[in-house]
Amino acid sequence: MIVLALLSLPLFWAFAFGKESAWNGQTPPGADKPGPFWPYYVPPGAKAMIRYLRSFTLLDAGLTPSITLQEVDTWSDVARKQQRIFWKFDLLYGKHTIKITHLGDGRVESPVINIDAFIVTEGLATRPLIPQAGLSDAAAQSGISLQSQSIASQAQWTLTQKSVTGVSAMQLIIISDIHALIIDKVEYNPLTIGGHPSWAALFNLQTHAVRPLEAESDSFCARGTFLSNGTLINAGGNPVVGGYTSAADFGGLDGLQAVRIFEPCQSSSADRCTFYENHSRIRMASPRWYNTVIRISDGSATIIGESKKGGWINNATMNNPTIEYWPPKSLHNSMGLLIYLPFLVHTLNANLFPIAFSLPDDGIFMAANRDAIIYDWRKNQEQELPRIPNECRVTYPMAGAGLLLPLSLEDGYTAEILLCGGSSIDDKKPGYEISSQDPASAQCSRLLLTDQGIAAGWVVEQMPQARHMADAVLLPTGEVLIINGAGTGISGYGNVVDRVGQSNADHPVLTPVLYDPAASAGHRFSSVGMKSSAIPRMYHSVASLTSNGNILVAGSNPNLDRSELKHETEYRVERVGPPYMKRDSPVVHNLPKALRYGQNLTLDVKIPPSTNQAREIKVALMDLALITHAVHANSCLVYISSSLFGDGQSLQITGPPRPAVYPPGPGWIYIVMDGVPSIGF
Ligand SMILES: *[C@@H]1O[C@H](CO)[C@@H](O)[C@H](O)[C@H]1NC(C)=O
Ligand SMILES: *[C@@H]1O[C@H](CO)[C@@H](O)[C@H](O)[C@H]1NC(C)=O
Ligand SMILES: *[C@@H]1O[C@H](CO)[C@@H](O)[C@H](O)[C@H]1NC(C)=O
Ligand SMILES: *[C@@H]1O[C@H](CO)[C@@H](O)[C@H](O)[C@H]1NC(C)=O
Repeated sequence: MIVLALLSLPLFWAFAFGKESAWNGQTPPGADKPGPFWPYYVPPGAKAMIRYLRSFTLLDAGLTPSITLQEVDTWSDVARKQQRIFWKFDLLYGKHTIKITHLGDGRVESPVINIDAFIVTEGLATRPLIPQAGLSDAAAQSGISLQSQSIASQAQWTLTQKSVTGVSAMQLIIISDIHALIIDKVEYNPLTIGGHPSWAALFNLQTHAVRPLEAESDSFCARGTFLSNGTLINAGGNPVVGGYTSAADFGGLDGLQAVRIFEPCQSSSADRCTFYENHSRIRMASPRWYNTVIRISDGSATIIGESKKGGWINNATMNNPTIEYWPPKSLHNSMGLLIYLPFLVHTLNANLFPIAFSLPDDGIFMAANRDAIIYDWRKNQEQELPRIPNECRVTYPMAGAGLLLPLSLEDGYTAEILLCGGSSIDDKKPGYEISSQDPASAQCSRLLLTDQGIAAGWVVEQMPQARHMADAVLLPTGEVLIINGAGTGISGYGNVVDRVGQSNADHPVLTPVLYDPAASAGHRFSSVGMKSSAIPRMYHSVASLTSNGNILVAGSNPNLDRSELKHETEYRVERVGPPYMKRDSPVVHNLPKALRYGQNLTLDVKIPPSTNQAREIKVALMDLALITHAVHANSCLVYISSSLFGDGQSLQITGPPRPAVYPPGPGWIYIVMDGVPSIGF
C-alpha cells in the first residue's frame, strides 16, 4: 500500500470526508483502505481541501536523499477546471511525504490556486500485473506449439501501465518522438479546455503530460493523414443530432464536412500546436462519417467514403460511395468535387472505414465487407480481387485488422496484404437479431498482389484466438503485433440485444499475439513471453508503434458518453515492450532531416558487438499511421537498401526508388541489427 501525506497540514485522505469524497472513484465513502480506483478528476462541487499559491515545488522527502519532484507552474490565460497539475506514478510502496514550497512568482496580481485534493491510487507499476511463468493464457489455451521455458524466459515482453490520456483515445497518431496526438468525440472527458471538456489532446510520450487541444467541430468518427509537407489533416466527423452536437453538448460544430488542419509540431513544449478550422473556407465537398484517409504518391490525401450521417451499420440511404482529394484537385472532370466509387455500393452494408493502402505500383488497395479491389486513381478504374474466404467481413462494424506487409528491394517491392479477424455476422440483420456473444473470426487471410498471387487467391490461416476490433501493429523487425479486440459481438454501442453495459461486444482478448509473416505457414503465431493485460481494449481503442520501439496502447470506449459501467471509458495508457527493448541497439549519431528518392546518405553509426558473424542489418522506413477503429491506413514499412562500410562505423542508406513505394511525407527510419531496432528518427 502506498501512503502519501502532506507535511505541515494534518494528515488526511480524501475519503476521510465521507460523503464529501473528493473524487468519484470506486472507493466507497467511509472505506479505510485505498483500493485501486480512478479516474483522477475532481467532480464539480467537491470541497476545496487545500488552498495554495500559484507556483510551488513538490518535494518527495520520503526518498533519500530528498529530490525535487517537479516545479509546477499553473499559469494559463484560459480558466481551467478539473486539471491534474502534478502526478507521480512510480512511487514504491511505503510512506511518502510531500512538501510543497510556494515560490511566489505568479504572473497575475492575486496568484492563488485551489488544490482540491491529492488522490492516492494503488498502482499497478509496483506489482506484477499477472504473475506468470513466461507462457501466456492464449498460447496455453490455443494449444499452439510452445518453445521451451528457457527460450521463453529469454524472450520476455514487458507490459507497463503508467499514465492516462485525459481524453478517450479514439484516434491516435505519433506526431514526433515527443508527442502522440489523440482525437476523441465530444464527451465528458476529465481533461478540460476553455471551460468545457476537451476532445483532443497531445500526450507527451516521455513525461506523460497531457495537453488539451481545442477542436471546434465534433471529430467523431473522423480520420486523417499527414500530407507530403508534414501538415496533418483530420477529415469528417459527427453531425449535430437534434440540435445537439452529442449527448454532451459543449457547442461543438457539425463535423461531417470538417477538415481540421494540424501544422507540423516538433517542439517539445508543443506551445503553438493546435487545430485550425475555418468552416466557411476549409471543408470537404460532401459530408463524411467513418471515412478512410490515405496519403498517395503525389503527396495528397485521398478521402474514401463513407456515410453521409451518423448511424451504425451503413445502408443505401446514407451511403456516400465517393472519393475526394485534399488539397482538392480536378481528376476525371471532378472539379475538386466527388468521384463515384461503385465498390462502396457493392460492399454495403458492413463497409464503413474501408481498409486502404497506397501500393508500390501506384494503385490503392481497398477492402470492405467481404470484398477487395485495387483502385487505379489515375484512371479511375477498379480491379476486382478475389472475395475474402468464409464469409469473413473485415470492416465496420465487423472490424478486422488489415496491413500492407513489409516491402523490400529484394522482391522488387511486391505488395502483400494481411487481413486478420472480423466477423461473419450477417450484415443485413437488424441489431435486435445480433448478440454481443456472437463469435468473432480467427481467420487471417493473405493475398499477394501479383498476377499469380491474385489468381491463387487468399491464403487462409487461423489466429490462436478469434478477435475483431484488433490492432495489427507492424514492428521494425517486420513482425506484426496483433493486440486488443474482442472475442465476441460487434463494434459500436447500444445496438444489440444483450449488450454488456452499452457495449455491443464482449470477451475482451487480453493477450497479444505476434505474427511473423516471413516464417513458414503453421509457425507464424506466438504469444511466448507475452504479458496479459488486465484492461479490456475493445471499441474505440488504439495501439501504435512509437519511435523508441515499444507499442503504446490506449482507449476503449463502447459508450455514448463517458461511463464507468462495464465496459467503461478507459483512459489508462499501457506500453508493450518487445524483447528487443532490453538489448543493445544500433545508435545513429548524425540524424538526417530529409531523404530524397534514390538519394544515398551516410549515417555515422555505432553497431553493438554481435556474436553473429553474418550479422544482418536492415533499414526500415516506416509510416506509423493514424489509428482508429482497428484501421491502420497508411501503415507502411519499406526496407530500403543499405550497406555498412568504414570499419562498421558508416552506414550508407538509399532513399526508396519512387514515390509510390513510400508516398512523400513524414516517416521514421529504424536501423535493425539482428532483430534489434535503433530508436526511430
Ligand atoms: C501543407 O499543405 C496544406 C494543403 O495545401 C496547407 O493547408 C498547409 O498549410 C501546408 N503546410 C505547410 C507547413 O506549408
Ligand atoms: C475564415 O475564412 C474566412 C473567409 O476566407 C475569413 O474571412 C476569416 O478571417 C477566416 N477565419 C479565421 C479564424 O481564419
Ligand atoms: C439506414 O440507416 C438509417 C440510420 O441508422 C436509418 O434511419 C434508415 O432507416 C436506414 N435505411 C434503410 C433503408 O434501412
Ligand atoms: C548510391 O550508391 C550506390 C552504391 O554505392 C551507387 O551504385 C549509386 O550510383 C549511388 N547513387 C547515387 C544517386 O549517388
